[in-house]
Amino acid sequence: MDPIERFKEQAKKTWPSFHAMEMQTAGAAPRLVRFAGIGRGANVLDVGCGTGVVALTAARVGAEVTGVDLTPELVERAKNNAALMGFPARFVEGDVEALPFPDAAFDVVVSQFGHIFAPRPELAVKEMLRVLKPGGTIAFSSWPPELYLGRFLALTASYSPIPPPEGMSPPPLWGDPRIVRERLGSAVKDLVFDRDVLRIPILSPQHLRVFGEKNLGPLSALTAKLEEQDPAKLELLRRELEALAGLYFEDNHLRQDYLLTRARKA
Ligand SMILES: C[S@@+](CC[C@H](N)C(=O)[O-])C[C@H]1O[C@@H](n2cnc3c(N)ncnc32)[C@H](O)[C@@H]1O
Repeated sequence: MDPIERFKEQAKKTWPSFHAMEMQTAGAAPRLVRFAGIGRGANVLDVGCGTGVVALTAARVGAEVTGVDLTPELVERAKNNAALMGFPARFVEGDVEALPFPDAAFDVVVSQFGHIFAPRPELAVKEMLRVLKPGGTIAFSSWPPELYLGRFLALTASYSPIPPPEGMSPPPLWGDPRIVRERLGSAVKDLVFDRDVLRIPILSPQHLRVFGEKNLGPLSALTAKLEEQDPAKLELLRRELEALAGLYFEDNHLRQDYLLTRARKA
């Protein structure tokens, strides 16, 4: 199998437990919905929608929403969430690098910490803009490389026994405005950046590490592998994760700063 395809098959197996994180990412969703200017009747696509927190927040303000995600279990959960909330919403399985929608199908395309996990940013951009109407809005949230989640992703990558597939770009690069500007290029206009903070209530950095090992699939997969192959290295990783979280731990909350990007398709 092609290494990129193998990477995606592996990703599909690691993300299902993310449903436990929806209580956290739900806290950032209204900000992205407002930032993207989503209102009643807008036809919105949520890319890497997970359990649908952004799409369903947009549905609450009257948008017509579709969510797409690589992981079937999360798509199923998103459908259940829509049913629970009584909102009409469409959720489908799919890859941001090959979106299963026609050209110019949406008024707004959003992604909250989702499309950044596609291995090839140039394909993600191409596809997200292809399905957007000319003049439509693309808006997304991403993790700056120099702040908590960006550093967390770099730290865990440095412990991984399996190198990323060749040509894969690290997800936190999506949190650097200079790189985002380059990636969107002349395909967009009216590019705007902003920042916000997601505060996660948690008793201690140790609790956060244990919660992440259980519910953040890519970390669960890494710790399971290290447990099997190199328990001493796993203990080192655990101490480094707790020390990193300690730098961003304030008043029983973990502070996660993120970047917001918005632009219009030229
Ligand atoms: C950090 S979660 C964010 C989920 C959701 N947007 C939220 O805010 O709760 C990342 C999501 O990206 C999805 N994902 C990863 N690679 C993807 C790809 N190539 N295409 C579509 N979705 C992908 C995962 O399945 C997962 O649901």
